[in-house]
Amino acid sequence: MVRVGIVGVTGYSGRELLRYLLRHPHVTLTYLAARRLSKPTPIRDIYPELAGRLNLDYRPFAVKEAAASADLLFLALPPGVAMTVVPALLNAGTFVIDLSGDYRLMSTRTFARAYGFRHRHPQALNDALYGLPELYREHLSHTRLVANPGCYPTAAILAAAPLVAKRLIAPDGIIIDAKSGVSGAGKSLKEELLFTEANEDLRAYKANDHQHMPEINQELGRLGRSRFQVVFVPHLAPMTRGLFATVYLRLKRRATASQVQRWYNTFYRDEPFVHVLPPPALPKTARVAHTNDCELAVRVVPGGRTVIALAAIDNLGKGAAGQAIQNMNVLLGFEETAGLQ
Ligand SMILES: NC(=O)c1ccc[n+]([C@@H]2O[C@H](COP(=O)([O-])OP(=O)(O)OC[C@H]3O[C@@H](n4cnc5c(N)ncnc54)[C@H](OP(=O)(O)O)[C@@H]3O)[C@@H](O)[C@H]2O)c1
Repeated sequence: MVRVGIVGVTGYSGRELLRYLLRHPHVTLTYLAARRLSKPTPIRDIYPELAGRLNLDYRPFAVKEAAASADLLFLALPPGVAMTVVPALLNAGTFVIDLSGDYRLMSTRTFARAYGFRHRHPQALNDALYGLPELYREHLSHTRLVANPGCYPTAAILAAAPLVAKRLIAPDGIIIDAKSGVSGAGKSLKEELLFTEANEDLRAYKANDHQHMPEINQELGRLGRSRFQVVFVPHLAPMTRGLFATVYLRLKRRATASQVQRWYNTFYRDEPFVHVLPPPALPKTARVAHTNDCELAVRVVPGGRTVIALAAIDNLGKGAAGQAIQNMNVLLGFEETAGLQ
């Protein structure tokens, strides 16, 4: 059994990791940590439903103790925190899967623009692998640091990848309209996330200014060997979890609906978690809730020059914790679906 730990276990992604790891056949939970406590405290005190199922304390996060207690750590921390501990964890020989954006962007200048502060330990950026198994599976077993993708980038990249990989899309030919449930913003207290503000409301935010936009540009650029500049408008949807991306892709040459459907089917043929739906079916967030699945559908606009690719994921599943477990499975040589079905 591999010993694993979660730092940020009191947050939404941390709780979801806990759910997946408790039923994982090849790992044992040995370390849980958060910030808002002064001494080790039984995990059942915050999650009473775990009484009798997990006899472990969660504790104030301490790097040395974490590295000594676990072979692999999931960091589910706010932006800017992981970078202060990752170098020490890597030096101690610990595998790290970081759910934040700290190690996703390759350029420190782009990072500073996206997140509003400078990267404090950019050295480890070279060691990090962008953890989208559908694109980087074969590299995952050679890394110690996985930068788990953002939720919006996961849906948008999976929706666009088959056409970008074929180099059929112009650099300015992608428009992403995406909606996320409120848990996407984490558990911290913010007025705009109060039930009374978010319920019965649909609103755009950070229109074309979201920190995930450079991440999407970077990864589509690597895949399509071009410099992409997507248009990206995220929205907050009045639901707890779920993320839906509608991606409009302008083709360089005409294609038919059956061609595009075939390209998507072929691209994702062997993927255990990406399901290309046959027409007329369309993705639904409710169907992928609490799973690591991504549902995809494609349509071609009459004229054959514009494709609409639609993707639904659970922002806490394929958008965060589920994908992190999938990455761990590949990294450690377990079957990719272990603990996720
Ligand atoms: N939510 C999503 O859908 C989603 C999707 C993809 C990626 N992500 C990324 O995943 C990360 C976690 O997101 P989340 O939504 O789960 O956040 P969250 O609900 O706000 O939880 C944050 C967690 O980090 C802990 N924490 C904060 N500062 C800490 C510190 N200095 N030392 C130790 N623990 C600390 C908090 O502990 P206390 O409770 O003790 O403060 C809490 O457990 C973020 O970087 C986010 O961008 C989130």
